[in-house]
Amino acid sequence: MRSGRFITFEGGEGAGKSTQARRLAQALERHGHGVVVTREPGGSPGAEHIRSLIVSGDTDKWTPLTETLLVFAARADHLERTIRPALERGKWVICDRFVDSTFAYQGVGQGMSPDTIAGLRDLVVGEDMPGLTLILDLPVETGLGRAGKRDHDEDRFERMGDDFHMKLRQAFLDIAAADPERCVVIDATHDEDTVADAIWQAVSSRLAV
Ligand code: TMP
Repeated sequence: MRSGRFITFEGGEGAGKSTQARRLAQALERHGHGVVVTREPGGSPGAEHIRSLIVSGDTDKWTPLTETLLVFAARADHLERTIRPALERGKWVICDRFVDSTFAYQGVGQGMSPDTIAGLRDLVVGEDMPGLTLILDLPVETGLGRAGKRDHDEDRFERMGDDFHMKLRQAFLDIAAADPERCVVIDATHDEDTVADAIWQAVSSRLAV
């Protein structure tokens, strides 16, 4: 069963997902809802440990299978310790990246078979798929330019090259086209307020807020 209160943000690097996740949380809180904002990889103490293994270091430090298993190990902990308990407490959950990122990054980007990823999704996520997924879309060079200005050492995927990131952009658009009931593509080239308005429009027209 999909929960209308579980919303995910997806997209390439530098699309503004974390900013927009925070802004959506504030908008929902203004409507009287309790909201938990979380992220992947991460979102629980154990999953944050695993995150640091995934997002930093040499680009080829993991084989695609190991990387995929690490992502799902983190996701299992995150779901068990953070997402499911929050939904059970009646909170809205907004997650910065979720399983679509695995189909894009580890699947299309790193060559893992979509069937393998779907099998792990069924095992780990089960019926707890998001009710709405907002895919923030923008040209690769714009996103990487924005991401490169951030001061952080979590840039393992940013360093994977333009071709990798072009494939990811298309992968997210293909995911949206294949599941239009769950996914909405948001043009993230606009300024922050315009993007936030488009997101609120998508959320309020599809979910009971
Ligand atoms: P962030 O930059 O949006 O915080 O995400 C951290 C990195 O983790 C980002 O480069 C994408 C990557 N990632 C995957 O490769 N697979 C996944 O399933 C998730 C959730 C993230």
